[in-house]
Amino acid sequence: MSTILAIESSCDETSAAVISNGKICSNIVATQVIHQKYGGVVPELASRAHQQHIVPVVEKALLDAKVSKKDLNAIAFTRGPGLLGALLVGASFAKAFALGLNIPLIEVNHMQAHVLAHFIEAPTPSFPFLCLTVSGGHTQIVLVRSPLDMEIIGETQDDAVGEAFDKTAKLLNLPYPGGPLVDKHAQQGNPLAYTFPLSEMPGLNYSFSGIKTSILYFLQGKTKTNPQFVEENIADICASVQHTLIKMLLQKLRKAARQTGISDIAIAGGVSANSGLRKSLLELGEKERWNVFIPRFEYCTDNAAMIAMASHFKFEQAAFCEQTVSPLPRMAF
Ligand code: KG4
Ligand code: ZN
Repeated sequence: MSTILAIESSCDETSAAVISNGKICSNIVATQVIHQKYGGVVPELASRAHQQHIVPVVEKALLDAKVSKKDLNAIAFTRGPGLLGALLVGASFAKAFALGLNIPLIEVNHMQAHVLAHFIEAPTPSFPFLCLTVSGGHTQIVLVRSPLDMEIIGETQDDAVGEAFDKTAKLLNLPYPGGPLVDKHAQQGNPLAYTFPLSEMPGLNYSFSGIKTSILYFLQGKTKTNPQFVEENIADICASVQHTLIKMLLQKLRKAARQTGISDIAIAGGVSANSGLRKSLLELGEKERWNVFIPRFEYCTDNAAMIAMASHFKFEQAAFCEQTVSPLPRMAF
């Protein structure tokens, strides 16, 4: 029996969740809007906003779960990867809370938690499964043998796919974070209107930095003859870029599935909220006879429910950490 409070503060979402015996009882997310006007997350502003949000967010998570502090058996927090100043707020808060209540502390890897978001609700994948984790900072194909045994078998060598979406949006003068807006415009456009080169990376690795340059040159060429080109063709541009990015993602995922012989395939991370990716993955899954797992929208982007889920598995193994642990901005698996 366990009731755990989990805290997520790795980037620009301050979130707290309560999990009781493996069931999520609350999940509160405060998104920091302050970064919008700067066109990207400003680390110092993120830490300050986390400091402002963390107390009310935790209070609401406990209230929604109808749990009082004395019911808690452990406190979990995101140790990394993420922004150091942002991680420090969640880690310090969690440590103080655990110390004050004299209960154990559980450190969670944010990327592993994205994968474990699949266990929040049924249907859940069977082990071993592959998870394509796609976010603003990472693009990974993860071989998941058990909740606490995962291996990255392919990953980006430069930009993350979420970054490619956000940088595309910036070139199209769309506000930050641009990924969801590219998705929105793409739904009205023709994905075959323009072609962009696919990157060639060996094995199961990815590269997304080249596409930004191709889009830049493409737009420079088009706007020379028609200054209104972007405004007039935004839907077709977004649809074509999105189509290219999805094609790259799924090509390697299919290769990984064939190489490993695994047919339970999941996606996770912020970019798995993309409607085109969800649709294409389901279509490919049908062709390849995969069991496809796509989390509910709210569990795709950063949230503490996934941290809570990961901490539940760690609690079962009594995998606690010391008060002396410090955040790891580049935390590996
Ligand atoms: O996992 P996440 O919430 O935060 C990180 O850990 O990075 O992912 C954020 C990323 C951003 O790049 C955002 O633009 C992208 O996910 N994203 C999307 C969509 N929703 C969020 N990209 C494409 N289409 C979407 N619908
Ligand atoms: Zn994330």
